[in-house]
Amino acid sequence: MEKHIVVLPGDGIGPEVTKATKGVLETVAAQFGHSFTFETHDIGGSAIDNHGTPLPEDTVAACKKADGILLGAVGGPKWDNLPGHMRPEKGLLGIRKQLGLFANLRPVKGFDSLLHASPLKPEVVGGSDLLIVRELTGGLYFGEPRERRNNGQDVVDTLAYSRHEMERIVEQAFQSAQVRRNKLTSVDKANVLESSRMWREVVEEKKSDYPEVEVEHMLVDAAAMKLVTNPGYFDVIVTENMFGDILSDEASVLTGSLGMLPSASIRQDGLGLYEPVHGSAPDIAGEDKANPLATILSAAMMLRYSFNMNVEADEIESAVHAVLNEKYHTADLKIEGGTQVSGSELAKKVSEHMSSN
Ligand code: NAI
Ligand code: MG
Repeated sequence: MEKHIVVLPGDGIGPEVTKATKGVLETVAAQFGHSFTFETHDIGGSAIDNHGTPLPEDTVAACKKADGILLGAVGGPKWDNLPGHMRPEKGLLGIRKQLGLFANLRPVKGFDSLLHASPLKPEVVGGSDLLIVRELTGGLYFGEPRERRNNGQDVVDTLAYSRHEMERIVEQAFQSAQVRRNKLTSVDKANVLESSRMWREVVEEKKSDYPEVEVEHMLVDAAAMKLVTNPGYFDVIVTENMFGDILSDEASVLTGSLGMLPSASIRQDGLGLYEPVHGSAPDIAGEDKANPLATILSAAMMLRYSFNMNVEADEIESAVHAVLNEKYHTADLKIEGGTQVSGSELAKKVSEHMSSN
């Protein structure tokens, strides 16, 4: 298959981790007889420096024509004092919005070799393998009105959704559950919020289309507790924008390192933006210390969700597992008796593992 990938390296360690990941994608292409073409564009701080805006027009145009988009990270101290509309993050929020990427997918998996790196007990975090599907372009973060009133004595934010917005995110979650363990937990606050009561209705309506998926509803406070007491309980979680923001950060501590967490922001036709959960790590940028695995695992998600290449995605994921089991790691991961290597070396180990199979 031929696929065109737009790479947005961004700032800090972004260029290092995307370069390392491109190498892994090239290995996949060679191994499976695909042809991946790459096109690189600026976003964030580098775009501010080169074009005077965090999201140049030609970056957006290229992304619209791509089959998949791989992003590093944006931001850094150099741009911290710029006004709001000129900040690097605007590039990221802008591209998600302009492409209508309404579903944010964050898998969290407890790697056996990293169990003791988690702040939770190994017996609690062991075996956890869940996916949070967060609604990304609506809900409390986008609802209107949002304003100060009455001379600053009152304030309002709004949690608003259309039925259509709820339906499409719920469908995405059911489909994700179908290719995993067929279990969906819809998280809301239906004892208090009218929007949550409608969310429950939508989930109930949709479930007859996915009879093999077991569905339950859970209140967000109970879900927050269960995530740290029994994370292995969950398969797919679907939830509103802010609930998802909070729960996915909570879930991210399960694995013990930011350098291991991939994410995807996708829409119904399959176009998606794939990026590590971590930021641009300016403290280690340019030193080849950054762990590229989160970005490599994000690329595996691209193969799975945008290219429908499940075997290839599995191949990358098992190569990552194998390399960790052989105890190769970057400085952010502590593996007892392990061998610490640079970011580019770790990526090369992943590629070697794939081509040796
Ligand atoms: P960060 O995720 O960049 O770094 C937090 C800590 O984790 C640092 O000590 C860093 O060295 C380490 N770290 C992160 N990724 C790593 C990796 N792949 N390998 C090894 N160590 C890694 O978060 P921080 O420091 O809060 O933010 C730094 C900059 O990144 C800021 O400008 C922030 O705005 C931006 N940022 C961008 C995001 C994005 O582009 N999606 C997300 C979060 C922050
Ligand atoms: Mg967050």
